Amino acid sequence: MFPDLTSDDIFRIETQRLWLRWPRASDIASLTSIASLAHVAQMTALIPHPYPPGEAERFIMKARAENANGTALILAITKKGGARQTIGLIGAHVTAADIELGYMLAPQYWGKGLATEAVKALANTVFSLTRASRIHANSRVNNIASRRVLEKAGFAFVDTGLDLLPARGGLHPCDRFQLDRKTWAAAKRAEGEKRPMPPMAQQAQQAQQAQDASGIKPVAAAGEAEG
Ligand SMILES: CC(C)(COP(=O)(O)OP(=O)(O)OC[C@H]1O[C@@H](n2cnc3c(N)ncnc32)[C@H](O)[C@@H]1OP(=O)(O)O)[C@@H](O)C(=O)NCCC(=O)NCCS
Repeated sequence: MFPDLTSDDIFRIETQRLWLRWPRASDIASLTSIASLAHVAQMTALIPHPYPPGEAERFIMKARAENANGTALILAITKKGGARQTIGLIGAHVTAADIELGYMLAPQYWGKGLATEAVKALANTVFSLTRASRIHANSRVNNIASRRVLEKAGFAFVDTGLDLLPARGGLHPCDRFQLDRKTWAAAKRAEGEKRPMPPMAQQAQQAQQAQDASGIKPVAAAGEAEG
């Protein structure tokens, strides 16, 4: 279950280029235009095609209800700055077997690493705020872009099998992936070790190194010298 923190619609996640926030009524037009595209819908389990009138509104109401009761965290993907219109969706659902992840992005934003950025951020949130031991995701075997997103976000390939994609009318061959908490934590540690030091800390370290090399002790502050 997701905690109280995510069950209020002021909850949002910031990444380098994105805000991930609760979907709202003003997203209906953008979501309808993305979900109506055959090449987007056909890669998903749940988006019907053709996209029926009223479906985006129904989806948003349901997503908000699930977010509010802690059974999911479904967020609109928006770009920072500018109009901040919705360019996609990402969702993590609580299932019997931990957490299931899904996402889609408007085609004009493909190939810029944005889905990967959103998936990494949501995975961080899941492992930071819930007790889930792993996140599952699957993609149709011909969905190379989605497969790459999962690989780049640290997911491991598990197997290929027939999965139910209700909106695609039955079982379809899918590649199954998972990211477990241990792997995620190890990757975070490695990332932290590689991250450059913030400028202030860097200056302090350089000053300390220069001082050590010169062998000169710092002059005591006035109060200390007098005392
Ligand atoms: C899957 C999807 C979210 C990817 O979004 P995105 O922002 O383009 O993803 P990213 O840019 O983060 O990564 C895409 C990767 O796939 C690669 N890729 C895309 N199409 C490819 C192809 N035909 N062959 C090889 N690689 C391909 C890109 O080069 C990139 O990898 P790289 O960074 O190593 O070069 C987007 O294509 C989408 O919304 N598709 C429709 C819905 C969908 O498939 N949802 C997932 C359901 S499981």
